[in-house]
Amino acid sequence: MSLLEIQNLSVEFDTDQGPVRAVSGVSLSIESGEGLALVGESGCGKSVTALSIARLLPSPPSRIADGEIRIDGRNVLAMDAADLRRIRGAVVAYVFQEPGAALNPVMRVGHQILEALRLHRPQSATTEEVIHLVRQVGIPAPEDRQRDFPHELSGGMQQRIMIAMALAAQPRLLVADEPTTALDVTIQAQILDLLSRLKRELNMSVLLITHNLGIVQDLADRVAVMYAGQIVETAPAADLLRQPLHPYTQSLIHSIPQPGKTGGRLRAIPGHVPRLSALPSGCRFHPRCARIQLSCSQACPDLVEVQPGRWVRCPFWKTAG
Ligand SMILES: Nc1ncnc2c1ncn2[C@@H]1O[C@H](COP(=O)(O)OP(=O)(O)OP(=O)(O)O)[C@@H](O)[C@H]1O
Ligand SMILES: [Mg+2]
Repeated sequence: MSLLEIQNLSVEFDTDQGPVRAVSGVSLSIESGEGLALVGESGCGKSVTALSIARLLPSPPSRIADGEIRIDGRNVLAMDAADLRRIRGAVVAYVFQEPGAALNPVMRVGHQILEALRLHRPQSATTEEVIHLVRQVGIPAPEDRQRDFPHELSGGMQQRIMIAMALAAQPRLLVADEPTTALDVTIQAQILDLLSRLKRELNMSVLLITHNLGIVQDLADRVAVMYAGQIVETAPAADLLRQPLHPYTQSLIHSIPQPGKTGGRLRAIPGHVPRLSALPSGCRFHPRCARIQLSCSQACPDLVEVQPGRWVRCPFWKTAG
């Protein structure tokens, strides 16, 4: 049994223009100890999918229109408020993009970690455990650093503190939503190394959300690519990076910034992600696709297993080059 099993998930928002479907029929699973990267451009539905796992989206305006989410075999959509509180943190924990904004500026970071521990064990949390967590996320001199206020720490150190808080309840799944986007490239690599190490040492599953396919290879065992609310390709990470099959995945790979290389290599994908209220007919990517065929605007292709473990939502994947 997978740790996380999402089946045919659809999420809608009520807007002034009527309901829009931000996530359409998404199926994903994550095994115990597995890393899955969920990748796609801005607005493709990555965060909405991720926040749905622990039912963190405000409702209204959001509504789970269809599908199933199971964690450890338990149906998240049927849980009451007390069950949801128990799985948040203790089973699935989140790390987001802006650590500076998430930390309380007037409270020492160690105290904030202590509070995260107390949420799950009100009586027994100790300063020793705080120091252990600060050491576990690779911060030197943890006894001293835990007494710092957030503004005394760099952005990278602040993100390590956020990760320590997420680890406080020993989650089985860590959802990291653009955890390094606000950081410079060197620090980004260090935080990704840290997440890889924690995944390995704690046998923790990780859902890494990013628009940048260039950062997923160490942490992700598998990759799922999302476009306009749908999964368009999933594959083992190494296979997908070596030989992407969906035209959108290929465009994403061509748009990976190449450190040290200037000019020529970086290609932004022409056009933009469609508005949810004006989705194109047929394949949602066809207006931007370099290999468009006549039938592409007619019917939305299914996500099909084209090789063992490789799923692609494009009938013309073989002509991909
Ligand atoms: N509260 C809301 N009301 C209406 N639409 C929303 C709401 N929240 C999100 N959406 C829409 O859902 C779609 C998916 O958003 P989501 O935040 O999941 O994108 P994303 O892939 O995480 O993008 P990014 O890389 O920018 O974080 C977007 O079109 C967004 O406008
Ligand atoms: Mg997002």
